[in-house]
Amino acid sequence: MPVLNAKENLVFVVNGRPVRLEVEPDATLLDVLREQLDLTGTKRGCNEGECGACTVLINGEPVASCIYPAVKAHGKNIVTIEGLGDESNLHPVQQAFLEAGAVQCGYCTPGMVLSAKALLDKNPDPTEEEIRIAISGNLCRCTGYGKIVAAVRAAAKALSAE
Ligand code: FES
Ligand code: FES
Repeated sequence: MPVLNAKENLVFVVNGRPVRLEVEPDATLLDVLREQLDLTGTKRGCNEGECGACTVLINGEPVASCIYPAVKAHGKNIVTIEGLGDESNLHPVQQAFLEAGAVQCGYCTPGMVLSAKALLDKNPDPTEEEIRIAISGNLCRCTGYGKIVAAVRAAAKALSAE
């Protein structure tokens, strides 16, 4: 007879660190990041895949972790906002968001920054339209998006000057 609710083994890389965990079979990646790994920089907004607050990078692609089954992350490479930089050593995208005034309440910011990073990793000199498309899955109730677009453009310049 099958064992109900048997935990699943999950082995993946989170922010460059190999991690091995037992997870509930129905856990989402967001559950595991926040509750088992204490990576609370990834935010829970709608919890339905609509707002982008929970965006992380999976093998370099932005993904809504609230609807991504944790077991699907097995063997994959995950980057959360904690993997970019910290207060004393901000990633250029984070620095650009701060300098452009693109952070107000900050709830959307981790997901927005990761979507921007994924874009810039592939396209170092995006147009405004390309930036708006890249962040279209990330909702912001505060900024009206103009300052966010300006921040991504500034980050592109900063990264290309590095
Ligand atoms: S919390 Fe995941 S998309 Fe809103
Ligand atoms: S800064 Fe508040 S939701 Fe974007």
